[in-house]
Amino acid sequence: MTTINKITILGSGVMGHGIAQVASAAGYNIVLRDIEQTLLENAMNKIKWSLGKLVEKQKISQDDANSVYGRITPVVDLKKALQDSDLLIEAVPEDLELKKKVYAEVEKYVEDKTLYASNTSTLPIGELASLTSRPSRFIGLHFFNPPQLMPLVEVIPSRFTDNDTVSITLDLIKKIGKDPVLCKKDVVGFIVNRIFIPLVHEAAYCLERDNAKMTQIDSAVKFKMAAPMGIFELADYTGLDVIHKASNEMASRDKKVINPNPLIERLFSEKKFGQKSGTGFYDYSGEDKYGRIKLSETEAENYDPITLVAIVANNAAWLLSNGVCDRNDLDKALRLGMGFKKSPFTLAEEFGLKRVVSTLESLSNKYGEFYEPDILLKKMSLG
Ligand SMILES: NC(=O)c1ccc[n+]([C@@H]2O[C@H](COP(=O)([O-])OP(=O)(O)OC[C@H]3O[C@@H](n4cnc5c(N)ncnc54)[C@H](O)[C@@H]3O)[C@@H](O)[C@H]2O)c1
Repeated sequence: MTTINKITILGSGVMGHGIAQVASAAGYNIVLRDIEQTLLENAMNKIKWSLGKLVEKQKISQDDANSVYGRITPVVDLKKALQDSDLLIEAVPEDLELKKKVYAEVEKYVEDKTLYASNTSTLPIGELASLTSRPSRFIGLHFFNPPQLMPLVEVIPSRFTDNDTVSITLDLIKKIGKDPVLCKKDVVGFIVNRIFIPLVHEAAYCLERDNAKMTQIDSAVKFKMAAPMGIFELADYTGLDVIHKASNEMASRDKKVINPNPLIERLFSEKKFGQKSGTGFYDYSGEDKYGRIKLSETEAENYDPITLVAIVANNAAWLLSNGVCDRNDLDKALRLGMGFKKSPFTLAEEFGLKRVVSTLESLSNKYGEFYEPDILLKKMSLG
């Protein structure tokens, strides 16, 4: 079985530099590769800044910070970056054509012992694996943003991945102090995005169909669905550009997964990306750009989020009935990836399983197959 000592990370952007930092903190030797020296300098500065914050908060010593920083070697030359590497983690932009070029280049220099992983959010792992000479040694490792803080990593084998690669990478994720969930099938959106992305579109439908205000829906999501924030708030925080891209990728592979709401397309085309651009669903142009939206239990009283509960429960049921994950991993993924304090099935039980299913049935009669209740949910509702 391969022992991981040296990890090569391709791409030093938002995700790559964060993954480099957490893996180095666990003692691994890291090579961080990007296409230009200035990009690497920028990434190394961010790592230094982040380690400095940890020292300031007395979470680590200055000596530890120096060692973590010292174990990361920034390299532009791909051949050098892949030399003696036990694992490569690809974190280049989410663009299949670009990834194809990257893997073609990697094939020229990669060694036989190196395992491959991609941090893709939405591209099929099997398709990426097929771009390499050893698909059985390829796996999805989906870290969440920011990797330094988010504990969850979805581990996604494709139909080609061998068991050895699954156990080595699951073990690695634990060793770097993260909490893995096994997404046993290479399905569109994996686990968290399969729930999160359709939920954003559905919340936008609720605005018009229920003639509700954004803060009303968000208050109900926060106070009645045990979420850490409203869904529009979370979408603005994630970035409407990211959501737009994920929606298109997911819908292009399976139309049934997303019921696209034109509002997402409109906000994206108007460059209203959320907090990062100053406007999204909400306006952040005031003094406190990163302030939280005012949500209240009183506003929550005036809105019944049954449709949103039903959509979450239905997608959760789909994941279980298709053998994508077990219930424990599903609950863990939603807790750590989206901050949901309650299991989707507990929530559905609280709202009434029969009511959840009848809500889906009436929506599916009106708006089509996206809303058809999953067989497992129907069974659960029969007690
Ligand atoms: N940003 C997120 O919230 C997030 C969360 C989870 C997963 N992801 C996934 O992680 C991956 C990276 O996303 P990101 O947000 O870090 O992107 P990013 O644009 O911040 O960084 C990508 C980096 O890759 C570099 N790059 C381009 N071509 C390269 C090559 N041939 N070799 C090495 N580096 C190259 C770019 O110069 C850039 O620095 C994507 O697949 C994305 O879907 C992103």
